[in-house]
Amino acid sequence: MTPWLKPVEPEWTAVLERALGRTVPPEALAVMVARQSRRYLGEDVAIAPADGLAARTMFWFPRDVLKVARAVGELTWAGALPDRPLRVLDLGAGVGATSLGALRALPPTARVASVTAVDHDPAALAILRRVADGARGAGLLPASTPAAHTAVCDLSQPGWGDELGLHDLVLAGLTAVEFTRAHGDEAARGAAIAAFLREAMRRVADDGALVVIEPGSRAESRALHVARAIMLAEGATVFAPCLHALECPMLRTTRDWCHEDLADVALPPWLQGVAKAAGLRWEGLTWSYLVLRRDGRTLRGAMPAETPMRMVSQPSVTKGKTEAWWCGPITGARGDLRVVELDRVAKRAAGVKLRDVARGTLVALEEEGIAEAETEGKALRLDPARWRPVWP
Ligand SMILES: C[S@@+](CC[C@H](N)C(=O)[O-])C[C@H]1O[C@@H](n2cnc3c(N)ncnc32)[C@H](O)[C@@H]1O
Repeated sequence: MTPWLKPVEPEWTAVLERALGRTVPPEALAVMVARQSRRYLGEDVAIAPADGLAARTMFWFPRDVLKVARAVGELTWAGALPDRPLRVLDLGAGVGATSLGALRALPPTARVASVTAVDHDPAALAILRRVADGARGAGLLPASTPAAHTAVCDLSQPGWGDELGLHDLVLAGLTAVEFTRAHGDEAARGAAIAAFLREAMRRVADDGALVVIEPGSRAESRALHVARAIMLAEGATVFAPCLHALECPMLRTTRDWCHEDLADVALPPWLQGVAKAAGLRWEGLTWSYLVLRRDGRTLRGAMPAETPMRMVSQPSVTKGKTEAWWCGPITGARGDLRVVELDRVAKRAAGVKLRDVARGTLVALEEEGIAEAETEGKALRLDPARWRPVWP
């Protein structure tokens, strides 16, 4: 398991069941999950509201609760969350996977002043309140976590945020996709997401952050990065995942999309059979994300003075070499994200090998390492002495 991800504790099952108010046998849950999954993919599939809520609470909560951890981990590592009790706002909160996932991912020293969850589904919000109370009671969240305040609100209507006040950590987990999917092509979807983000940014304190999680599929990730470009052009700061404010290199061809894919993270054991029976993946966790700020602070600014890069692929090990894709400020000029480490060179050097570096890792690359690099095709040939992982 990736070290910065805290595995979902088995105690969550009892908390979620109590919040839902019933126990759903695994076979029945698999049927509900299969139907709800098709709805998430945009299919017009009928599902009883109670069954949809059961699937979301018992299956999607434990699966999706981890997806916000990288963004919160990076904000924490960079010291970029305000040093005061945090006001947390969750947009399209559902049963709470993103806000409660963010609380789980905060360091033990963090204090939380308020948790406000909004959604157009009051039944989901009622479950969220019970999940938060139950998790606090079971010791899965700090005892000081305040009770969640909830508000019913339609986020697709103009002016939805007028009454919501300012918050330090504004979250939107797998929300924008729900009301922007129908907007047509990538450009139209990106513009619709940007309209939502513009309104969400009005709820972010001057030194706070907006964390957006979207599905890791190609169309959804690309639409999020089209929205990134629009928000950048309007003056927002991209804190993460990008370490530059240039055009996203992965939007240049239709082939690529910037997303997270943790191949070594499996569903909690008690849900693996449910996923298999529902025809869903039980290994690997994918999502895309974007963290925006108003104060100009970036993840890049917290990194060492060398050129900041992010590993945006798994390492690919072939005979005699390891290849990977890195993204950073030099990527735009080079026009190629590929880096190569030759085994014969890596073997002789001390330090971390490219093959051992996980997707998403932040890396510092010395300027000399870039200037002196020989190229392998168009890829950058790494000198092991001139780069190092920084986080995690
Ligand atoms: C896929 S769920 C994600 C829930 C939660 N954020 C999470 O991370 O698990 C999407 C949520 O967005 C809510 N939603 C969709 N359209 C909405 C709208 N127009 N206004 C408010 N909430 C909406 C749904 O009710 C649902 O709870």
